[in-house]
Amino acid sequence: MDYKMKIAGGIPLHGKIEAQGAKNAALPVMAASLLLKDATLRIHKVPRLHDVITMADLLRDLGADIFYEKGEMSISIPEELSWETPANLVRKMRASSLVLGPLLARCGRAILPLPGGCSIGSRPIDLHLKGLSRMGATIDLVHGAVHATANGLKGCRIYLDFPSVGATENLLMAAVFAQGETVLENTAREPEITNLVQTLKAMGAIIEEDGTGVIRIQGVDELHGEEITVIPDRIEACTYILAAIITGGEVEVTNIIPQHIDSLLAKLEEAGANFTVEQDRVLVHPVKRLKAVSLKTLPYPGFPTDLQPQVMATLSLAEGASVIQEGVFQSRFLHVSELNKMGAKIELQGNTAVVTGVEQLIGADVNATDLRAGAALILAGLAAKDETSVFHIGHVWRGYEDMDIKLQQLGGRVEVIPTEPLSTKVNGAVRKEEA
Ligand code: UD1
Repeated sequence: MDYKMKIAGGIPLHGKIEAQGAKNAALPVMAASLLLKDATLRIHKVPRLHDVITMADLLRDLGADIFYEKGEMSISIPEELSWETPANLVRKMRASSLVLGPLLARCGRAILPLPGGCSIGSRPIDLHLKGLSRMGATIDLVHGAVHATANGLKGCRIYLDFPSVGATENLLMAAVFAQGETVLENTAREPEITNLVQTLKAMGAIIEEDGTGVIRIQGVDELHGEEITVIPDRIEACTYILAAIITGGEVEVTNIIPQHIDSLLAKLEEAGANFTVEQDRVLVHPVKRLKAVSLKTLPYPGFPTDLQPQVMATLSLAEGASVIQEGVFQSRFLHVSELNKMGAKIELQGNTAVVTGVEQLIGADVNATDLRAGAALILAGLAAKDETSVFHIGHVWRGYEDMDIKLQQLGGRVEVIPTEPLSTKVNGAVRKEEA
């Protein structure tokens, strides 16, 4: 089953929109529930997304009892858990690997088929496995699946070769029950990591994290049930800020922690965008045309790779040439050929894109190859002359809750249309039902 988004472009967006809870904060927090025994984790502001549904299905498969309605999720974990994760769910989403650390810590073993995710280059989990080995786990690769066992993990010092978000989260959760002290160095510093640390601490873990890339964990014997809230989704919020800018519109985006989106706001200021930042919101005012700016994506607090495609779409209409370097993933430029189909002038040289601004994009039929590429094409379509159809829009539902409805609320003329006969198990079902 497939869907496309049909967009009548050239209409400035107007109005107010609230950012959802962060996908990348909700997923690790959901995985952290596996550390519980006969207890419940209640999570507020869980966005209704395909990836969240996949994680919920995965946890249910392991034995969790989950209730999810209107952004409120409660995950009850029984005494006995399964430690073998189902290949069909794990292969749907790379973030499934986040259950490895908690399962190993809680059950002493875990089986995880190598995970899937966006097609944005090679995304190994070697740093996760190396760290778990250092903590005393035995890791074997059997028929494409990781088999991990540990007779009690042991605290140690782990230096990450790269500040991987997933590896930091997995090792953090594994270390909660490890004997003695674990010191994680060169960790990721994304706000979603802090959200996970705060969740684990609220559940009874002993963790010191001060944003310097060093996290100290003292092992404890057990955690208890808690109630926590997921932080706002900085990537979704910024996508709507860029949607307002690219259409020359006037939009207020609420539920923002401005400090989390500093890197984008600084670039937008440099490019001549007009916006006001308040305590928990950003108001975008219309401007005619941005000036070109250059940037490189980096781990937080650097410019987020998850915004690179959307910013590239926006800069494709700026005055002058922007240079965009991808510093996190090996190849995250699948949107370039699609933007060029719409009249953009973007040239690729290795991991660098040179974006020569054009005055107008023209609507076309384009393919969303992954989540953020899809969002970038939607932005381009909103600004383009005539009609754009973004195919394989399902990728976008992995990370954006009701994006078509939110854009319609802002006056965007967008419509999601099936490109194959309807069946009962459709994207719409995920969006209407709860997991
Ligand atoms: C998370 C985010 C994703 C974001 C990415 C980078 C979630 C659910 N997803 O993904 O949206 O794009 O951070 O900000 O939070 N790497 C290795 N070995 C490893 C782990 C990572 O080489 O063991 C490499 C990856 O291939 C990639 C880079 O490190 O090139 C960053 O990956 P990582 O930070 O782990 O991203 P994810 O946790 O997968």
